[in-house]
Amino acid sequence: MNAEQEIDQLRERIRAADLAYYDGDVSDLTDAQYDELFVQLRTLEAEHPKLLTDDSPTQRVGTPLPKGGSFATQEHLAPMGSLESLMQAEEVGAFVERARKLLEYDGETPLTWSCEPKLDGVSANLLYEDGVLVRGLSRGDGQSGEDLTRNLLTIRNLPTQLAGKGPFPKRIEVRGEVIMSKTGFAALQQREETTSEGTFRNARNTVAGTLKLMDPRMVKRRPLDFLAFAVGLVEGVEFGTHEQLRRCLTQWGFTVAEPAGPAADLAAILAFRDDLESRRDDLPYEMDGVVAKVNEFELQQLLGRTSRTPRWALAYKFAPRLARSRVEKIGAQVGRTGAVTPVAHLEPTELAGVTVRNASLHNWALLAERDVREGDAVEIQRAGDVIPEVVRVFVDERGPDSKPAEPPTTCPACSGPLQLEGKFLYCSNIDCQAQLVGRIVHLASRRAFDIEGLGPKQVEQLVAAELVKTVEDVFALRPKREQLLELERWGKRSTDNLFKQIDAQKALPLGRFLNGIGIRHVGETTARDLASHFGTLERLRSATTAELLGVDGVGDEVAAAILEFFSSEKNQATLASLQAEGVEPLAAVRNDDGPLAGRVFVFTGGMTTMSRDEAKERVEALGAKAVNGISKKVTDVIAGTDAGSKLAKAEKLGLRIHDEDAFHQILEQT
Ligand code: IVH
Repeated sequence: MNAEQEIDQLRERIRAADLAYYDGDVSDLTDAQYDELFVQLRTLEAEHPKLLTDDSPTQRVGTPLPKGGSFATQEHLAPMGSLESLMQAEEVGAFVERARKLLEYDGETPLTWSCEPKLDGVSANLLYEDGVLVRGLSRGDGQSGEDLTRNLLTIRNLPTQLAGKGPFPKRIEVRGEVIMSKTGFAALQQREETTSEGTFRNARNTVAGTLKLMDPRMVKRRPLDFLAFAVGLVEGVEFGTHEQLRRCLTQWGFTVAEPAGPAADLAAILAFRDDLESRRDDLPYEMDGVVAKVNEFELQQLLGRTSRTPRWALAYKFAPRLARSRVEKIGAQVGRTGAVTPVAHLEPTELAGVTVRNASLHNWALLAERDVREGDAVEIQRAGDVIPEVVRVFVDERGPDSKPAEPPTTCPACSGPLQLEGKFLYCSNIDCQAQLVGRIVHLASRRAFDIEGLGPKQVEQLVAAELVKTVEDVFALRPKREQLLELERWGKRSTDNLFKQIDAQKALPLGRFLNGIGIRHVGETTARDLASHFGTLERLRSATTAELLGVDGVGDEVAAAILEFFSSEKNQATLASLQAEGVEPLAAVRNDDGPLAGRVFVFTGGMTTMSRDEAKERVEALGAKAVNGISKKVTDVIAGTDAGSKLAKAEKLGLRIHDEDAFHQILEQT
């Protein structure tokens, strides 16, 4: 391969990883691999300056905005730069020396630096006019970002108005990192089930995914924090030093990046980083290094920037946490959503203070690509994630009878059949033990069976005590009352309440039933569409692919998942047992000629007189459809209090919009 081809290939891989990273998706590159590719590319470009192009990933900041994304794009008032990322003390030395030379510092008067953690989250740019937050953008490509104002407004420690008496700057851009603390992330993992295998893999990905949610109320339920560390455009105030800026930001009500401290020379910067690195595990949030900034703003100005990064600030990364180990066995584990992923069982290895026994290999495609085999000597890394991963295989040390690892053909937990979807293998057996807790929690959730008092904690307890071994066991708990009472936190009252709740939900709308039983790719809306299209469970079960494809929103993938679900013997048995326990989905009234037939409703914002779910059920009973997203198909938008971006979109499309009163009139007239 010549240099040009190599450069092309590197760019391609980096761009793909950028996109996945930005979307909060699972990337098939580890951070260390990504950095390595980036350095390789930069080196090659430096060796072949003729091959350097403006669109190279090394020449721009952040990632391109997703095409056709759902958030409006706006320009930053001052561009948002990135930082030069340094791995070695010598590189930091060279950086500091360059600054010193450029400023013609004599070597006696110290050039002082201000050190902070390099936070591992997602950066945001907040614009305040006369002290009031007017908008918040993602970094985007550095020139413009996505308007995430409504989501950012939900962050508790983010001032919507600057604190104090003022006077406030006419306009100021405050920059910082949106993060999730380690405890916040752990609590979230406990509380919510992973919806896609990637979503809750680590705090940073979760923050990225959360900021992209369309419903700010969902964002509000996630424990985000904003830590300020810089300003962009500033009008009407001046700061002498970065330290002053930090004090001022604090007075205005911001939380600033901590722990911070001054550094009078190179040695102090290095020491600050080493100290922070050694305390890394005890600090409340994830960081991947330190940032050192020239303290005086005047000197920052003098130093200026290169095309991509300032000459007055550097990022000195922590050493990746690496260790050598050996793969004893390659196993498979089943996640709560049924994804079956490879896992390397390792020789117990000390790594950054913990004994590591397992490492993630992410997916079978990646395993094949990296060709990790049983018996291999490997390098493992603990990054921000709690779960370490295999980052390198020492192929040279492989023995003669080493064989490539094979993905399983049946589910390792239940021996059920597996289905390949993209890079992932899924077990679609409804009874699979490994998925049981997640499935029951979903089944009991509000938009499914709505069984109050059956949350993740309770389900885990019931499964651990073996009172519940299958989904249908939930409906056969009554005879086990005595055993239930023996468990911690279950009194007579809560136990009988649970029974009552369960009994009350045995007859439920078909749509909620279908959502609850957890057919892959069938979420709340599709479940409702299927219910109103087929009317009964029996008709849906005997539907052909062609018939399924006739339902709005059902494509090849969804149709295949539905057929697969109902053709599984185990699932059939489960459905039969549910029926035997008295669970009876109510036939959906097909109301094609109801008074609202043909109309498509979207509800946005809160309603004061009924819940949104109830409102959806009401219009559907009258023959209309209720959907979640705005599109041209929508005929009526009901905007409650605090209606957000959906409303704006609806206005753009010129859709019919009603307030809550008008909605009641519609219901009454029909
Ligand atoms: S200062 C001109 N300070 O690192 C750049 N950035 O690679 C001003 N970051 O996009 C940024 N912690 O998201 C600064 N204490 C800190 C930081 C920090 C994390 C992020 C930030 C920026 C990226 C630069």
